[in-house]
Amino acid sequence: MEENQVVSMPRIGDKAPEFKAVTTQGDINFPADFKGSWVILFSHPADFTPVCTSEFMTFANMENQFAEANCKLVGLSVDGLYSHIAWLRTIKEKIEYKGMKNVEVKFPLIEDITMTVAKRYGMIQPGESSTKAVRAVFFIDPNGVIRTIIYYPLSLGRNFDELYRVLIALQTADAFSVATPADWRPGDDVIVPPAGSCGTAKDRMEGKEDMKCYDWFFCTKELKKETVLKTVLKK
Ligand code: BEZ
Repeated sequence: MEENQVVSMPRIGDKAPEFKAVTTQGDINFPADFKGSWVILFSHPADFTPVCTSEFMTFANMENQFAEANCKLVGLSVDGLYSHIAWLRTIKEKIEYKGMKNVEVKFPLIEDITMTVAKRYGMIQPGESSTKAVRAVFFIDPNGVIRTIIYYPLSLGRNFDELYRVLIALQTADAFSVATPADWRPGDDVIVPPAGSCGTAKDRMEGKEDMKCYDWFFCTKELKKETVLKTVLKK
């Protein structure tokens, strides 16, 4: 790709671009095969590199936690299938890192040697690298709509607690028609009504003692952790 070439990158609110791909778990038709589930589609720069290895071990270790939130994981790099298989086998058989060992990566890892998918998803960012994908993270909802996009450079390993927090916050916003404030975690107050709606604080406060207004445009209410977990995680 030429450095100044204009590429169309998917945006929040767009339908996730469709593609068929070969993965370590067989062929996939994306996003159709994942309809009804949330999906995190993420890219890494290269197999057999240290930051990516630390990330894959962490993600694989958290796979059940994401599954409990109805979320499947799909990885991608511009390496080939045999490289992926050899790298994942090395991780399982040889790498012990931060108390994690025998880590089996069970989620699909896409081979994309032609960079077709990586380019379509804006994962090749030539200012950073024209031969490797950056660390992109796409949160895609059960209807195949992109809901959050996060990009990290090659040198920066992702924060997986944050990825999980984003997933739960998106699901909470959908389930309760609320927004979530800075650093929100389940159990913290949520913002009502969602950003962009109107009405005065007084209107909104009437008969709603559980609301707290900081000003006319900024009201919150309690949303118990148990309620969030019961709804989002079915716990
Ligand atoms: C890594 O995962 O360690 C890595 C990959 C590509 C460039 C720099 C670091």
